Amino acid sequence: MVKVDLSGARQFFTAAGPDYKLAGLAHETLTSGTGLGADFIGWQQLPQRIKDTELDRIVAAAEKIRARSKALVVIGIGGSYLGARGAIELLKPFPGKDDPKVFFVGNTLSADALWDTLEQLGDRDFDVNVISKSGTTLEPAAAFRIFRELLKKKYGEEADEHIFATTDARRGALKSLANARGWESFVVPDDVGGRFSVLSAVGLLPMAVAGIDVRKVIDAAIEELKALDLRSEENPAWQYAATRQHLYNKGYGIEILGCYEPTFRFMGEWWKQLYGESEGKDGKGIFPASVEFTADLHSMGQFIQAGPRCLMETIVRFTRSRREFPFPFDEGNADGLNYLCGKDMAEINRIAADAVKDAHISGGVPNLVVEVPARDEEGFAALVCFFEVACAISGYMSGVNPFDQPGVEAYKKNMFRMLGKPGAV
Ligand code: PA5
Repeated sequence: MVKVDLSGARQFFTAAGPDYKLAGLAHETLTSGTGLGADFIGWQQLPQRIKDTELDRIVAAAEKIRARSKALVVIGIGGSYLGARGAIELLKPFPGKDDPKVFFVGNTLSADALWDTLEQLGDRDFDVNVISKSGTTLEPAAAFRIFRELLKKKYGEEADEHIFATTDARRGALKSLANARGWESFVVPDDVGGRFSVLSAVGLLPMAVAGIDVRKVIDAAIEELKALDLRSEENPAWQYAATRQHLYNKGYGIEILGCYEPTFRFMGEWWKQLYGESEGKDGKGIFPASVEFTADLHSMGQFIQAGPRCLMETIVRFTRSRREFPFPFDEGNADGLNYLCGKDMAEINRIAADAVKDAHISGGVPNLVVEVPARDEEGFAALVCFFEVACAISGYMSGVNPFDQPGVEAYKKNMFRMLGKPGAV
């Protein structure tokens, strides 16, 4: 189970401290389905539901793709891609020799990015997994048209065999096309919003193609969600949600999520969407930012240490490193680094993290640590469940609907009018 260490935050609390009573009420609101947006709380049962329904078919589809293709093109944006990308970069940053390379497209309108991917893809055999709950989002829909053309050119009559659609069970242009063309389809459940969907086929099919053991992910998620149902101050989701709300009310309006593993970068992107879209509304919200340490200590470190004091910092820590790398001895010691001999690189990284934590706290930045045992399937599942449950609790604590995103429509209205979409005003 995820552990939260608040020792670096306590000195910034008022005497009353985080409001665990409110966290408990928010948790009850979530699980009883009596809160705002209760139509979208199905993610709490998602791992068990997937295990009972689609998981075997997801694994079978992934095996088929792995057996015949050198690449999978995943088309999706926002909640329809960030979780899968976060998982793959965290757990399988470099494909093994039997792993297809996973390309992510449809998350931009950039012509250059499209060309770059097409060139990288080259003449590899490939499959496409198009993911869109609504089936109407411009970026993935445009990319899908382009990659369908490519499939038709490459595979002719067989092109439809290479398309896997993950979309609404009944509605939308993508669902209609999938039915008409007979594409193998997976469901984004009605009661699960995009940013809470990584443990459905949305995330699991690309992850399985990349060689991640999605059965392990789902089993671990089922266990973690059970553990996170705890109704007490010992619940790490309460600790995290209540602490960040307490600090927010004291003027810490920005939260930086950091990790000392570079492979965590896209998990940071996933987390930013989860918290940004869930909490940033009604004039409220903690602005979520992310950093990669130690690299960003050499860029953002100055701001964190000594800029405006409105930042709190949450560090994701993996207790064990996957590999060991003892620091090498050098006879001449011309670089003066022999004082590091006898230490492992993983230990050096941990010591750096401890040193940074103390420096940032003394610079006025409250520090929270979220810890899981390892950078593996179980650790990934635990982090996803933890951040999702805590996000919903935190959102309800602040009085918003954590499951809608009305603010993202404003730009779309303008864009469609300017692009000349029929009916757009
Ligand atoms: O979390 C969300 O709801 C969004 O990020 C969506 O996932 C994103 O806009 C893509 O939508 P769709 O899956 O309908 O194409």
